[in-house]
Amino acid sequence: MRVFMEEVNGELQGMAIDFRSGFRSGVLRMAWAPDGSLFVGETNRGWGSAGEANEGLERLVWTGELPFEIRTVKAMPDGFEIEFTKPADRKSLEDLASYSVSSFIYKYHPVYGSPPVDNEEAKVTGVRVSDDNMTVRIVVDGLKQYYIHHLFLEGVREKDTFHSLVHPSAYYTLNNIPQGPSLAAGQVTTFDSRVKKEEPQPVAAKPATPAKTPPAATPKPVQEEEVVTLEMVQPLLAKNTCVACHNKDTKQVGPAYVDVAKRNYTPEQIVELIHTPRPENWPEYATPMPPMPHVPREEALKIAKWISSLNK
Ligand code: HEC
Repeated sequence: MRVFMEEVNGELQGMAIDFRSGFRSGVLRMAWAPDGSLFVGETNRGWGSAGEANEGLERLVWTGELPFEIRTVKAMPDGFEIEFTKPADRKSLEDLASYSVSSFIYKYHPVYGSPPVDNEEAKVTGVRVSDDNMTVRIVVDGLKQYYIHHLFLEGVREKDTFHSLVHPSAYYTLNNIPQGPSLAAGQVTTFDSRVKKEEPQPVAAKPATPAKTPPAATPKPVQEEEVVTLEMVQPLLAKNTCVACHNKDTKQVGPAYVDVAKRNYTPEQIVELIHTPRPENWPEYATPMPPMPHVPREEALKIAKWISSLNK
């Protein structure tokens, strides 16, 4: 990640944005070399981490080509000011459809981890673009103090090449909202390509013919076993932070799901164990699993069915 900080109301705060990915293990320590390359020390220290290896030492060397990126994001009394590394296409900057902003926060509670909660969409209601097309100020309706704001600039294009941003998402934690003048209506543009001009209505469609009663349908057989795939549970495992400790095939902080499956629990029993773990079942594990009673039942059951299916 790349981080940009600023002082607002006497406190440091700022934004984080993706920088580089694809390392062989979890990034832990970094050091700049005198030539501007970056040495990256990596380990998964026995936990889940990105990459295939348990450890690594890699060197990141810049190609010398300046990427089209968000350079900084600053909080404004009525929104954000976003600066780019290169001039952007003005038409894309002046289109409200290029931007979306949403906010969320995490739970501070005694159990392990938290999914993002209180997700809410905010509305971008106006923009003001600098003369050099390097900076845009966006007016946001629905800023929330203390919340993390996800700015997603999907529609912004680079001048001349029309490339999109390498990383269109930035995350700003708005612990303080600065005081100061807001932009007046006359200082912003509000063009939105999503809003279509009034078009003549097409010729009225035929009224729908009432549906005939279908011939007596044979009742669907009751589905005994719902097939749950990894693709279906992956978002649930991520959202509920299981991924921090469990892997499908390899032992990590907790046992591999394939090894849990070998114990032949019913899905119901697995749900119980997620909500109320029994560390005595796995005495060889140093850190016990924290009770996770906040995992919604339906989600736990879906995960449980998937774990059970690994034994087939
Ligand atoms: C902080 C690490 C951690 C997290 C997070 C975690 N687990 Fe575990 N899990 C463990 C450990 C360690 C064990 C084995 C020891 C124990 O049960 O305490 C375990 C055991 C289990 C078992 C086997 C229970 C038994 O008694 O046989 C299941 C099933 C399981 N975890 C599912 C999940 C699911 C699903 C999630 C996410 C909702 C999750 N775990 C989150 C660490 C974790």
